[in-house]
Amino acid sequence: MSSKIKTLNEKMALSKLGGGQKRIDKQHEKKKLTARERILYLLDEGSFEEIGALVTHRTKDFGMENQKFYGDGVVTGYGTVDGRLVYVFAQDFTVFGGSLSETHAEKICKIMDMAVNVGAPIIGLNDSGGARIQEGVRSLGGYADIFYRNVQASGVIPQISAIMGPCAGGAVYSPAMTDFTIMVQDTSYMFVTGPNVVKTVTNEEVTSEELGGASVHSTKSGVAHKTSANDVECLEDVKKLLSYLPQSNREKPEDIVFELKDEIRESLSEIVPDNPNKPYDMHSVIEGVIDTDSFYEIHKDHAENIIVGFARLGGKSIGIVANQPMFLAGVLDVNSSKKAARFVRFCDAFNIPLLVFEDVPGFLPGTDQEWNGIIVHGAKLLYAFSEATVPRVTVITRKAYGGAYDVMNSKHIGSDMNFAWPNAEIAVMGAKGAAEIIFKREITAAEDSEAKWKEKEAEYAELFANPYSAAERGYIDEVILPKNTRRKLIKAFSMLENKDVNTPKRKHGNIPL
Ligand code: HXC
Repeated sequence: MSSKIKTLNEKMALSKLGGGQKRIDKQHEKKKLTARERILYLLDEGSFEEIGALVTHRTKDFGMENQKFYGDGVVTGYGTVDGRLVYVFAQDFTVFGGSLSETHAEKICKIMDMAVNVGAPIIGLNDSGGARIQEGVRSLGGYADIFYRNVQASGVIPQISAIMGPCAGGAVYSPAMTDFTIMVQDTSYMFVTGPNVVKTVTNEEVTSEELGGASVHSTKSGVAHKTSANDVECLEDVKKLLSYLPQSNREKPEDIVFELKDEIRESLSEIVPDNPNKPYDMHSVIEGVIDTDSFYEIHKDHAENIIVGFARLGGKSIGIVANQPMFLAGVLDVNSSKKAARFVRFCDAFNIPLLVFEDVPGFLPGTDQEWNGIIVHGAKLLYAFSEATVPRVTVITRKAYGGAYDVMNSKHIGSDMNFAWPNAEIAVMGAKGAAEIIFKREITAAEDSEAKWKEKEAEYAELFANPYSAAERGYIDEVILPKNTRRKLIKAFSMLENKDVNTPKRKHGNIPL
């Protein structure tokens, strides 16, 4: 028996070494943790249980039969984060550069299947040179097996991808189909074709960082939902994100024990400037309403004219979508519509109530927007809100103009409670532009056109630049004082807690993708 135990111990020790100490040192030199160190940091102490530690590849080509490493370049298993079950895989760059073989893919698929059947989040820590070149199509098949499972798991369990090294070629499509992608600054990159191919095909000279580093994906492309400064921060980000999410679509997110104190927040009255053209930071409104320091922003540096993120209100997890007057006056455009639509759909799939803060002057005009399909992208957000059956509440803090009024979680598309602050302007458009169009003849004919325009602008503003026309029709449920917003929202969401909506029977809708 003792020799058998010795054999087991030797094998397990070897599996823990991955590609060997030299390669581990190299990983550390790059300021990267190893796959095992990452898992141990992510999970609660002592909670990790490994699955498939002794798996090896089956390839015989290119002398591969003489190069076998236990685990085959990926550490897989389960454990807990803050006491909650999660499944995790971490690609081990020290074994064939973390490249994906047939067996490496099988290991990932095995825990994905378990995660879906049990109903617990799956977290992928990606650090890989892509398809195992020695395996050819078997590796490609392995990727497709994972892609298929990403789709089957979508909307069933939360899927989080951390990109902690290379992620190139078709490999990028697994993270792209998960719910959140967090990239590590300087040590990670994602692209479909690398700098060499780019140079050959387009003659463009570009570095990996410029082409697909964390900065570019968290600002320009929006592929990354968050950037972390290093491995440790990235793993902390994953843990924090998980705290807002339920285990699966069968559950609601866990409440945090929270003592409700005086819910009047005077500071909210001071935020929106009297001048309707003056910007203000919508973050102050968000922070003024939610539980202290509970905002977890998603896509912070991408499409900054809209803010999305998770927060807690009275200890409960909510998703926030808010126009940001600080950027492009808070207009809706292609990128902001896409960003918000995806977030709304995530919240809806996972029973996270939605809170909207609205200050929107409309859709961004121009050829750039039209040619890039603002019609179809704006429709995504309209569709996503209309389809969402979670509790939905809107607060109009200032402008709610034109089609954007309809889109931003209006009563008409299924919002449950709609509040407006007394200074809200709910109209087809701003008073100045409206007066110019409908009183054009009178303005042109007047001796003092400028004065006439001002007079007509004031007339229009008096009639429509307020929340009362909408309130009279029930489009607004209540006009509230800013300082009371927090307690109104806590009550509204509590009232909506057991909301249950029947949707029409169909295979699936056809969201304008
Ligand atoms: C097998 C690989 C590998 C791969 C790296 N290695 N990538 N082995 N298949 N795809 C091995 C190396 O041979 C080396 O082995 C070790 O991993 C570390 O690699 P280095 O090159 O020394 O590391 P580094 O300098 O940090 O460069 C990392 C890298 C580079 C940029 C990822 O290795 C690289 O360009 N790899 C190839 C990337 C690629 O073209 N992949 C296929 C993409 S196509 P030793 O023994 O020395 O430690 C694809 C299609 C997917 O992925 C489609 C899905 C639908």
